Amino acid sequence: MHVLRGTNMGKGCGSGRVGGGQRRNTTTVSSCRPVVSTNSMMMRTPSSRRRAGAAGAGGRSHGRRSSVTRNSVLVEDVWKSYDGERWALKNINLEIETSSLVALVGPSGSGKTTLLRLIAGLERSDRGSVWLNGREMTDCEPRDRNIGFLFQNYALFPYMTVGENVSFGLDIRGREKESTARRVKDLLELVKLEHLADRFPHQLSGGQRQRIALARSLALEPEVLLLDEPFGALDVNVRKELRRWLRDLHEEIPVTTVFVTHDQEEAMEIASEMVIFDQGGIEQVGSPVDIYDNPATEFVQSFITKH
Ligand SMILES: Nc1ncnc2c1ncn2[C@@H]1O[C@H](COP(=O)(O)OP(=O)(O)O)[C@@H](O)[C@H]1O
Ligand SMILES: [Mg+2]
Repeated sequence: MHVLRGTNMGKGCGSGRVGGGQRRNTTTVSSCRPVVSTNSMMMRTPSSRRRAGAAGAGGRSHGRRSSVTRNSVLVEDVWKSYDGERWALKNINLEIETSSLVALVGPSGSGKTTLLRLIAGLERSDRGSVWLNGREMTDCEPRDRNIGFLFQNYALFPYMTVGENVSFGLDIRGREKESTARRVKDLLELVKLEHLADRFPHQLSGGQRQRIALARSLALEPEVLLLDEPFGALDVNVRKELRRWLRDLHEEIPVTTVFVTHDQEEAMEIASEMVIFDQGGIEQVGSPVDIYDNPATEFVQSFITKH
């Protein structure tokens, strides 16, 4: 397969060095500003959203419709190859509604992490664009995106207490001490671990560590939370407990959340909407019930029922 390289150059927000490659750094942070265009504002129904998402498996989207502010995440016509030989992502079109809890599901190597990293700004696409809350972010640095993320082995700082870990992001931004202390207390209450504020990470269980790491990723009030197999390293009972915990947490603070898992059962239990990946493409987008009752492809059918 022939892959075009470096076709997405010259729209960067900052130093633009993430992901390597030869990229021109011609524009400034100002391209991260909100797009204010009420004319092109479109509200979509869930069914049209599903169609738009499903288009990711095949055809291209129709024109630029990118100031849809009900959608926290909009991915348009994204293609990504790491090696110039194979596509890690192929023509991805996806809209994620504000305040939803969406699972990206699919077998290992199907492109889930790559899409999450593109949304986070940790990778750059070869083509296509990424929008967050109506702002084009395609070439913006992670720090300009107002996102929180948490990965499978997201290590806490070992020589800091739980409280210090959670306050770290606020401290380095010079937030006022009293409001930081209040925020840390609120976050620890939210993850139900306020009694552990003075412990060190090695004194916590794996599940507790991930809950603290999640509290830390929420400290700066991100507009979008990206979770890549956050419970993947934990044993099965802890995982199950944390699924319920995450769902409850999301009900309490409904920040738009994109959750990656290879486990369809986990996705069905947690998510309001699922995006099924295979070989770098989207096979189907829909609620767990929709997908279970009406699998769009043979792949989805076998992936959903094989567990
Ligand atoms: N840093 C990388 N360098 C080269 N290839 C990569 C890299 N990361 C992922 N890939 C490849 O991209 C494809 C998608 O990977 P990934 O997004 O990690 O899938 P998933 O998260 O669904 O397991 C796979 O073929 C994988 O081998
Ligand atoms: Mg992955």
